[in-house]
Amino acid sequence: MTTLGVNIDHIANVRQARKTVEPDPVQFAFLAELGGADSITVHLREDRRHIQDRDVFLLKKTIKTKLNLEMAATEEMLEIAKRLLPDYVTLVPEKREEVTTEGGLDVRNNVKYFKNFVGNLKDSNIEVSAFIDPISDQINYSKEIGFNFIELHTGKYAELTGSDQYKELQRIVESSHEANDLGLIVNAGHGLNFNNVKKIASINNMNELNIGHSIVARALAVGLEKSVREMKSLITSN
Ligand code: PXP
Repeated sequence: MTTLGVNIDHIANVRQARKTVEPDPVQFAFLAELGGADSITVHLREDRRHIQDRDVFLLKKTIKTKLNLEMAATEEMLEIAKRLLPDYVTLVPEKREEVTTEGGLDVRNNVKYFKNFVGNLKDSNIEVSAFIDPISDQINYSKEIGFNFIELHTGKYAELTGSDQYKELQRIVESSHEANDLGLIVNAGHGLNFNNVKKIASINNMNELNIGHSIVARALAVGLEKSVREMKSLITSN
């Protein structure tokens, strides 16, 4: 059965917009688990634009499910991961100027670097996933490097429509089978929402989907009315 990893970066985005203490992503992880999240995903970025070091260390102590730390393959992040010991790490490319993670990781052209980096994490008993585009070469090199998982980038699938979207879906289906045949566990994510998730969730042997933006957007839609009602009642009752 496909499981759900909930990415809570956007909760931290709202907090950081005011550099205050609420909403606290650590508290919202508890609500995500209450809703059935099978794991909690956070991306600790070099620029700390949303998730902070304090968040990851508190999450590790408080969540009841699994902690998936998304990070760039840098020395700074390696040191943090080795202290934090999350259940698994997902390595992603990271650019300061991007709004969100853009393409997949280029493992094919950095085999030596990633072998060393992934080996280092595995020595600390941390399982490692590569966020890659659905491309054969990237899958084969992920296996050679020693990744336990791959996370297939569904961003393109989410952006396309009609027959183009169908073609991209086929690419993802074939890639996931290819990876499974090599013994890699297959996750997927990026841009998945309430309209497009079903086709990805029903791929055979799809392990976990990582979803953030659409879940947080829906939370605002289903929660804002109640929040305004509570404030209105506070103002008008005396
Ligand atoms: N997977 C990875 C590797 C990501 O970088 C992100 C975005 O942070 C997601 C999944 C979740 O994407 P979205 O917020 O579009 O659901």
